[in-house]
Amino acid sequence: MHIHADIQELRAALLPHRRAGQRIGLVPTMGNLHRGHLALVETARAQCDVVVASIFVNPLQFGPNEDLDNYPRTLEDDLASLREAGCDLVFTPTPSTMYPRGMGSQSLVRVPEVSEGLCGGSRPGHFDGVSTVVSMLFHIVQPDVACFGEKDYQQLAVIRRMVSDLHLPIEIIGVPTVREDSGLALSSRNGYLSDDQHATAARLQSTLMELREQLEAGADIDRQLLQGLTSLRQAGFEPDYLELRTPDLGQVTATTRDAILLVAARLGPTRLIDNLSLTLP
Ligand code: PAJ
Repeated sequence: MHIHADIQELRAALLPHRRAGQRIGLVPTMGNLHRGHLALVETARAQCDVVVASIFVNPLQFGPNEDLDNYPRTLEDDLASLREAGCDLVFTPTPSTMYPRGMGSQSLVRVPEVSEGLCGGSRPGHFDGVSTVVSMLFHIVQPDVACFGEKDYQQLAVIRRMVSDLHLPIEIIGVPTVREDSGLALSSRNGYLSDDQHATAARLQSTLMELREQLEAGADIDRQLLQGLTSLRQAGFEPDYLELRTPDLGQVTATTRDAILLVAARLGPTRLIDNLSLTLP
């Protein structure tokens, strides 16, 4: 496995593969890798000849009061995991490599509509930072395929929309969420939780499962969402949002069948997200 912090070096390493017509897969990450990230690498491995992972804690997608400085950085362990998962190349740029003119002077990629509301409402500018850095990674690596987790459902929708709007010749693969036995979605931010909070955190998924059961049985949507918010508060969460949307994040109407529940909630200072798809009767 080869590790490159430099853009030109990474491009030079990819050139022979591209010339040989090999299929290149990209897995963008911010490191602190867990089984969720590795499921993306395995998916890319199964689909591609060459697998590139990137590790970059992207300052452009963090708000001023968010956890950029404390975000867990575990490069040596991450490289060992990637090696074991069969990754071929790792891109590990620094902020000054990605943003040589500083973030304030950076050209931005903004994806309208799908990036508004939900996490875009609670984290202003977050998805501009995500779509910009992912578009930079796409231009640097020029992958045929890129893998993203369904755990970050809105992020996946934003990337799909960006690829469609900008006519990028990249296949986007969404990978199902990897969970603990408790149902809690694996996340680098789970490491911030105390033991007690960790036990409570599984209520996020079980609340969505209870809601799904009710909604699939025909219960009133608004009433159930209010009930879900109450249950989350009683469990100790401070919810940011709990919403039912169509799979492409539009508003649910009387004719909607396939739908998705999306939730973001804080446990102490830690913000957790999850989602669950369902079929309305
Ligand atoms: P990060 O949070 O490190 O996640 C990298 C990728 O792993 C994302 O596509 C995310 O959806 C996926 N992932 C995280 N937890 C997962 C789980 N439990 N199961 C399946 N997939 C999971 O998301 C980002 O980084 C950044 O925003 C990034 C796209 C790299 C841009 O900076």
